[in-house]
Amino acid sequence: MGMGGVERTFVFLKPDAVRRGLMGEIVARIERRGLKIRAMRLHRMTREEAERLYEPHVGKEFFERLVRHVTSGPVLLMVVEGPNAIRVLRRMIGATDPVEAEPGTIRGDFALDITANIIHAADSPESAEREMRIFFKEEELEVLWEGVEG
Ligand code: CMP
Repeated sequence: MGMGGVERTFVFLKPDAVRRGLMGEIVARIERRGLKIRAMRLHRMTREEAERLYEPHVGKEFFERLVRHVTSGPVLLMVVEGPNAIRVLRRMIGATDPVEAEPGTIRGDFALDITANIIHAADSPESAEREMRIFFKEEELEVLWEGVEG
């Protein structure tokens, strides 16, 4: 795994990023890295979707704060594709706690708060598949690119 194989990952910009007008800047970083935006959509997450997405964190002390934040306004949902996309995105976004995130990473450049931390990206191939299926139908990921080279 991760030997240059093409992967798909699930990424979303949280309401703090959308509210602050950072969508373009962050999407530009992903594109400039050479990754392909396979699908992208503005969306207002329901509580049910947020609870499904963050199911692995049920019961943690921050869970309710997290669900309230991600449902507080529109988010930008994306499926991003490219060689080692999962690990590449995780490195680009930086540590979960923005205090620990290196300058040059997305959180290290734009965030200060661990809940309003701008962006989420799946941490494994299994979570990527599970998370993207909550928001995207398989045909949404295919139909746009039918007959497109590269
Ligand atoms: P994300 O990558 O979306 O995955 C889970 C989210 O929980 C994380 O980013 C943070 O925004 C949020 N969170 C809030 N508090 C914590 C915490 N103490 N540890 C981990 N994640 C937290």
